[in-house]
Amino acid sequence: MLSTQIFNKIEENAQDNYLIDFNLKKIDVGAFINQTTMKLSNKVITVFATGLFTLFLSCEAVSTVEPAQELSLGEGFENPIGFYDATPSFSWKLPQGIEKQTAYHLVAASSPELLSDSPDLWDTGKVSSSQSLYISYEGNPLSSRDKIYWKVRFWNAEDQPSAWSEAAHMELGLLQNSDWQAKWIGLDTRKDGIKGKSNTIIHTPQYLRKEFAVRNELVSAKLYVSAKGVFKGFINGKTISDDVMSPGWTPYQKRIESLTYDVTDLLQEGENAIGFQLASGWHFGRLLWNKMIWGQTGSPKILSQLEILYSDGSKQIINSDESWKGTTDGPIRFAEIYDGETYNANFKMPGWATPDFEANEWRKVQVAPLENDIAIRPKRHHSVREKTTLDTKDIITPKYGAGIIFNLQQNMVGVPRLRVPMKKGDTLKIRFSEMLDPDGKFYTDNYRSAKSTDYYIASKDGMIDWHPTFTFHGFQYVELSGFDTSQEPKKDWVTGIVQYSDFDKNGTFTSSHEKLNQLQSNINWGLRGNFFDIPTDCPQRDERLGWTGDAQVIAPTSLFNNDVHAFWASWLQSLRESQFENGGIPWVVPDVLENAKVSAGWGDASVTIPWDVYERTGDVAVLEENYQMMKNWVNYHQSQSENNISPMKDSFGDWLQPIQAKESNKRGDTSKRLIGTAFFAHSAHLTSKTAEVLGFKEEKEKYQNLYQTVANAFEKEFFDENGKIQNSKATQTGYLLALHFDLLSDTNKSKAEKHLLDKIEEADNHLRTGFLGTPLLPRVLDAMGETDLMYKILLKETYPSWFYSINQGATTMWERWNSYSKLEGYNPESMNSLNHYAYGAVGEWLYENIAGIKPLEPGYKKIEISPIPGGGLTSAEATYESPYGKIQSAWRIEGDTFYHDATVPPNTIALLSIPLDYEHNIIVNGRSIKDFNKGQVIENEDGTIFIEVPSGNYSLQSSLR
Ligand code: BGC
Repeated sequence: MLSTQIFNKIEENAQDNYLIDFNLKKIDVGAFINQTTMKLSNKVITVFATGLFTLFLSCEAVSTVEPAQELSLGEGFENPIGFYDATPSFSWKLPQGIEKQTAYHLVAASSPELLSDSPDLWDTGKVSSSQSLYISYEGNPLSSRDKIYWKVRFWNAEDQPSAWSEAAHMELGLLQNSDWQAKWIGLDTRKDGIKGKSNTIIHTPQYLRKEFAVRNELVSAKLYVSAKGVFKGFINGKTISDDVMSPGWTPYQKRIESLTYDVTDLLQEGENAIGFQLASGWHFGRLLWNKMIWGQTGSPKILSQLEILYSDGSKQIINSDESWKGTTDGPIRFAEIYDGETYNANFKMPGWATPDFEANEWRKVQVAPLENDIAIRPKRHHSVREKTTLDTKDIITPKYGAGIIFNLQQNMVGVPRLRVPMKKGDTLKIRFSEMLDPDGKFYTDNYRSAKSTDYYIASKDGMIDWHPTFTFHGFQYVELSGFDTSQEPKKDWVTGIVQYSDFDKNGTFTSSHEKLNQLQSNINWGLRGNFFDIPTDCPQRDERLGWTGDAQVIAPTSLFNNDVHAFWASWLQSLRESQFENGGIPWVVPDVLENAKVSAGWGDASVTIPWDVYERTGDVAVLEENYQMMKNWVNYHQSQSENNISPMKDSFGDWLQPIQAKESNKRGDTSKRLIGTAFFAHSAHLTSKTAEVLGFKEEKEKYQNLYQTVANAFEKEFFDENGKIQNSKATQTGYLLALHFDLLSDTNKSKAEKHLLDKIEEADNHLRTGFLGTPLLPRVLDAMGETDLMYKILLKETYPSWFYSINQGATTMWERWNSYSKLEGYNPESMNSLNHYAYGAVGEWLYENIAGIKPLEPGYKKIEISPIPGGGLTSAEATYESPYGKIQSAWRIEGDTFYHDATVPPNTIALLSIPLDYEHNIIVNGRSIKDFNKGQVIENEDGTIFIEVPSGNYSLQSSLR
């Protein structure tokens, strides 16, 4: 088949000096013919070409089909080192213009040289499959430090092979504790620690160092490092990476992450030095209720193993051990996540991490072996890093307070960079705030006990250039006092360094509505501020914890906006490790509350997040990894329930529902029993679907039956025969749960829908939903065909609504619909975060419905692109970097005409819809839909028109009916 095609091409084109690509060489057939000075007929050329082809068959044919791109492993890692998984999965994207893949061939080798001719690790041969994502490794077993080089080619719809991709690579980290020769080392900082809030011990940050010699002919050097606490590493005075607050936050009693750095370029022949700054971080930090879960004994420690490879194959290993020395007399005098950092420049130790430094005063370190029950494992997502910076927009001299205020005009998370003039011996005091009221009052009540204050003590006159290392703040305003007042404050004194986990932006949404664009921006800033190694509730007060409910509601929106596949997969591992023996999931993960309490809608994160990640990435591994946790959680619901009603007494209900009865105590007016039972049914349902994907037929049935049984019990208990909530207060959220989780019989369903509409009308088209109800509102209204109503609710300007907070000046999502109002000032509650992402869950509706990009099959293998214009919007656009490539949906209305441009990535198909109002005169890519032959036109019973199309760019045009 292939040969026939090539011959035909040669026959067709030989007289035009056609270029044929064979085996990397371009052979100019025409020129060749001329050289031979023979006059060849086409027939002769065919014979010649046959010979040529036979000749090249023995070599490797290289195609004109462009190669696969963006090769990645696991949850989207490109050429990782220190990788965590010895049986990774392989993914690639097909180049634009390729409709689909029909087969692939992947080879993997232990060296680049072996890759093309004798891949010694894995050779799949040609596999007939359209799968271009998450191909499981089935090659030779791999172990710690192993390297793998790999490349892939694919066959297109015409069965033509692509060229081979460029080679990608991966190197494993240290996968087992037994790979570590290094020991935990550090100074005992407990005995001279400072007493903090509730008598907690605040450890003085320490500096650790070691000198060593490097021979010549060094080939490579890898540094494996972990810490109990947080570290910053240096070799010969240079930082080893820009990572922030490494190694990050996991359930430390079970697992601490390690990082791998290629430090070859930092080493030099002869004398070298390695050094670490080490502070408490989360491990020894005071967290929320000051229980100091991991920090009750001991002091921060570092674990460092530097492996140097020489050209003769020999290896030198520099381990953290008793030969290291340490001091607490460095310039970082104090560092605490909630309280801030103090830097005293008088304690500077120039060159402390270089071999020239005299460390005579430094003390011997304490040494401890690795514990058997704490796994040291490679970090499985990217560290927090500096992602962007914000300049000061204006300087305010307030009526109150001692300092000058720098306004970044954006609430953010990270640290300030300070380039400020100072006088020797003076102390610069740096305070933070998320908001300033019109009076100029600096608002810090909502930090609660978090002091969130940094200090810099100057050792000489002049400009300082400094930022804190081992703390982070949530702020828009920075107040400075103690600077050289003879100088006029300048905007460039303060820059905001924005820090969050190092993932890329994945999706965009814009529209003709300015406030909607501000909402999208607020949602994004909420995500940035709270994806600080783990998903947190808030980034500023004495909390910043992995509240499971908040994570559960924001997951779908986060997956659109950012590439957080690995981020979630990693936190889900912490969730599994934190699950109680009885199947309960703690309120927060990592569990620093240790109160054994469980909440419905919070613990259900263990089921809903794996499912959300699977739906949006298509990665079955996330279901495989978490299936047992899902089942345990459903069993927990069951164990708590009586007659299938799951009360979950320690639940947070529909947390922070606006306008609730006082006695509801922040938990909203919806019955906790109703919520618990609804989530019980829903989690059973998703577990059944997961069992189906994983091929567990019996369990699929079992959980499906359980879902039905619980749904029946739910309906009987909480709904009367008129579809009205009974036995408890009827609320928007009560109806939303019943409808979205499909818990009512058909007859009751339509009646309940009516009651929901009444409830919304009663509230003058405002929402009355808290954390749990809010994400369901748009989904339910869409399913009911009430998109116009959803637009009304979304575009409301009055309390409670999304725009209400924007009207009060919000640049992030707020914890409460009325955290601040221009009329009444700050909400009197101290639990009043101005950076809390939960209500940003509506973001899903912006891109799935306004712009219209939805996955119809996991990973967007099949996509629905069906925008629903409304709310007076004249245009909207979303782009999304799906696992298969970029999806785009951009629409605009001009006069009576609706224009819609859509991009469908390679190896997928999409259903493009025409909005109901605009079905007249449909034009696709410049021609009437009647002549459309690139896909199928489908007319639904409700009159909606779809076209099912393969990868490509489409322009649709329709006019008002
Ligand atoms: C957090 C919430 C969390 C809640 C539980 C709060 O302190 O900030 O977002 O879900 O507690 O009710």
